[in-house]
Amino acid sequence: LDNGLSRTPPMGWIDWERFRCNVDCNNDPNNCIGEKLFRDMIDRIAADGYKDVGYEYVNLDDCWMSHERDENNRLTANSTRFPNGIKSLADYAHSKGLKLGIYEDYGLLTCAGYPGSLNYMDIDAQTFADWGIDYLKFDGCYSLPWTMNKGYPEMTRALNKTGRPIVFSCEWPFHQQKASIKPNYKLIRKNCNSWRNFKDVQDSWDSVMKIIDFYTKEQDTLIAAAGPGGWNDPDMLIIGDFGLSYDQSKSQMAMWSIFAAPLMMSTDLRTISDEAKEILLNKEVIAVDQDALGKMGRRVISRGSVDVWSRPLVNGSYAVVFFNKGSDGGPSNVTVTLEEIGFTTTVQKYALRDLFLHRFLGNYDVRGTFETSINPTGVVMVTASPVKINKYRTTN
Ligand code: GLA
Repeated sequence: LDNGLSRTPPMGWIDWERFRCNVDCNNDPNNCIGEKLFRDMIDRIAADGYKDVGYEYVNLDDCWMSHERDENNRLTANSTRFPNGIKSLADYAHSKGLKLGIYEDYGLLTCAGYPGSLNYMDIDAQTFADWGIDYLKFDGCYSLPWTMNKGYPEMTRALNKTGRPIVFSCEWPFHQQKASIKPNYKLIRKNCNSWRNFKDVQDSWDSVMKIIDFYTKEQDTLIAAAGPGGWNDPDMLIIGDFGLSYDQSKSQMAMWSIFAAPLMMSTDLRTISDEAKEILLNKEVIAVDQDALGKMGRRVISRGSVDVWSRPLVNGSYAVVFFNKGSDGGPSNVTVTLEEIGFTTTVQKYALRDLFLHRFLGNYDVRGTFETSINPTGVVMVTASPVKINKYRTTN
């Protein structure tokens, strides 16, 4: 969507995967979907370095609403859990230099059964704008997926009409695919800043692998669909939660970045481990995700259990992920030439840098080989930049 927003993939935090629809603020005041949780996360993002590396949006997912619209058909927040309303939360986020996102649904009800936007799109868009909302996740439960090609753009127009810059994140292709409808990605890209196209991420490696498998299988369609202003969304980062090992956490971070995916954390930033935090704050990997060329990577080699993904970056550089899908005991070795990864051979040498070790690996001839060893369900991630060779330099 060319609304000037999300020229690189959006980054931030969203409650759903980790905190779900926990509405029990009496018994679980720290973890329920209520004001405190979001204020806590805003504080952590602002104070603990997340904001400094680009995490910006703090998003409410489902279950923030009251079950009834007000007398003017406007949505209202649950008043017990959000006693000061959403506007004050947005003000609080803005006061810390962050942004606030919210969730609604294209259909009759949200997935968790709260009022949807069907027949109320203009009112809802205006309500969000009045509250100072900066990002809308628009789900597709309780709706007719074959009406979405007409219906989702109505929300795009409604948001645009408010005059407030609001990132528009859609679940349009996912709900269509579920109904065996082939998504029209041209239209989706024209109307959304990002779009979910596969199932919800759950807190397990199995779930992350299924998403990666889908992105691999569909890569031709997905690469063509995305670019600055519109991104494929493989769903939230679950790094810092319970389901991923250290290596698997790095794998999710690396793969999401090679995909040029939104980086939306869904974890408890109050209790996160140092290891997980370090992965989420890895500036070199984030720089790949946020590369201005905005091109989703491609799987270029599949050899044994190792897949090699490559993504072109600005200035003739590349990011490469060596991803070991296997869980076969020890690390797997792979040897490739840079040429077979698809690097242009008009450049003779590339400087390789390991983005998790933060280490320069050496200059490699484009036709020479590069060998690396990748842990089970882990990654090695490098960038390769053209080395400028001075033709006239003498040997001493
Ligand atoms: C759907 C979405 C999830 C989440 C839930 C909330 O399942 O795909 O990301 O928003 O609804 O109910």
